[in-house]
Amino acid sequence: MSIRNIKKSYPIFSRRIHGHPLTYLDSAATAQKPTAVLAAMDAFYRRHNANPRRGLYQLGVEATEMVEQVRSDVAAFIGADDASEVVFTSGTTGAINLVAYTWALAHLRPGDEVIVSELEHHSNLVPWQQLAARRRWKLSFIPITANGNLDLQWLRRHLTRRVKLVSVTHTSNVLGVRPPLPTIIRLAHRVGARVLVDAAQAVAHEPINVSRLGCDWISFSGHKMYGPTGIGVLWGRRALLEDAPPYQYGGEMVAEVRWGKTTFADPPARFEAGTQNAAGIVGLGAAIAMLRAIGWPAIRRHERALVRYAMKKLTMLSGVTVYGPHTAVDHGAVISFNIDGVHAHDVASVFDTLGIAVRAGHHCAMPLHTKLGVLATVRASIGIYNTKEDIDQLVRGIKKVQKIFEV
Ligand SMILES: Cc1ncc(COP(=O)(O)O)c(C=O)c1O
Repeated sequence: MSIRNIKKSYPIFSRRIHGHPLTYLDSAATAQKPTAVLAAMDAFYRRHNANPRRGLYQLGVEATEMVEQVRSDVAAFIGADDASEVVFTSGTTGAINLVAYTWALAHLRPGDEVIVSELEHHSNLVPWQQLAARRRWKLSFIPITANGNLDLQWLRRHLTRRVKLVSVTHTSNVLGVRPPLPTIIRLAHRVGARVLVDAAQAVAHEPINVSRLGCDWISFSGHKMYGPTGIGVLWGRRALLEDAPPYQYGGEMVAEVRWGKTTFADPPARFEAGTQNAAGIVGLGAAIAMLRAIGWPAIRRHERALVRYAMKKLTMLSGVTVYGPHTAVDHGAVISFNIDGVHAHDVASVFDTLGIAVRAGHHCAMPLHTKLGVLATVRASIGIYNTKEDIDQLVRGIKKVQKIFEV
């Protein structure tokens, strides 16, 4: 599969928005879906639909096999040796909450410390904040330096045996910063802390190998990697999953149920109570197959060239402030900026008249925006289907905003 004509395999790009072709620069919020993903889900419902792990008839067996095949595909995709370490969740948020409400609640005591970074999306901040307040854990934040990188000196000074968990983003959804995870993981493990990596903004853009990375859990969402909404993954080390109680209770997560007592299934079933999103899982499998067919070298080459091109164009424009590091090397597929004198929401509204879709606001990272000294930014994010023409259209959009607002 070639990346060059890939837009053609995404039906949404046949649409026109306010008379213009769609310039979709919001893949960090959710990526568009290729025909292969739509067809896989359609085929599941048309030909195989049954409740996985329950039906002892042909369709039930097929549905179970399809779901378990995707579990193996996910494991291979992220370099995990054991498919039973892959738990299906509703998304990144569901995965992080799962670790918070199972392992962390079971293992952290009052006075223990959780460290997150100032870059975090609310999903990797609010669950820890809420539980910390309830259970009297301490919550600390790795500060960012002037260019948006994490202050590792702070982390070195701060890591003590009281720290039980470091939960950090792989790639910032605002600044595109990619913290040095191997160093963070090594430092955290040295004091016995566990490490959760929020890979929501990474998994569609670069290979992730949990075995090589050495983290303890990783979370991501299907919909940001060209798969469907409502499905995500928590990968965790087998021993840690086994050492955590269930999160939700119900069908298929049990070993034996008596009137007064229940024993629970081993992971991953222990954490997958109730009927699973089988069609979503099948769609996720199709998205992984598509990414594999294109291949990481082509994806990275294409996206890095686009980020470099966009960064060059945007930083050259007067009256535009680009946040975070300005180099494409080590930069994720998001660029956040403001047009001086114009609110980000107004920018996005003018862009829309040209068929340009971007995100405007705090991107679920309000404390980070406070730190940056702004209420909102405009975020352009890139996916495999974007082209240089999309960036050129973005630049035209910026110029139109500056003309309308006379800034
Ligand atoms: C870095 C990061 N973490 C977590 C999330 C939450 O993902 P979801 O809403 O799919 O659970 C997002 C979504 O934007 C994100 O960018």
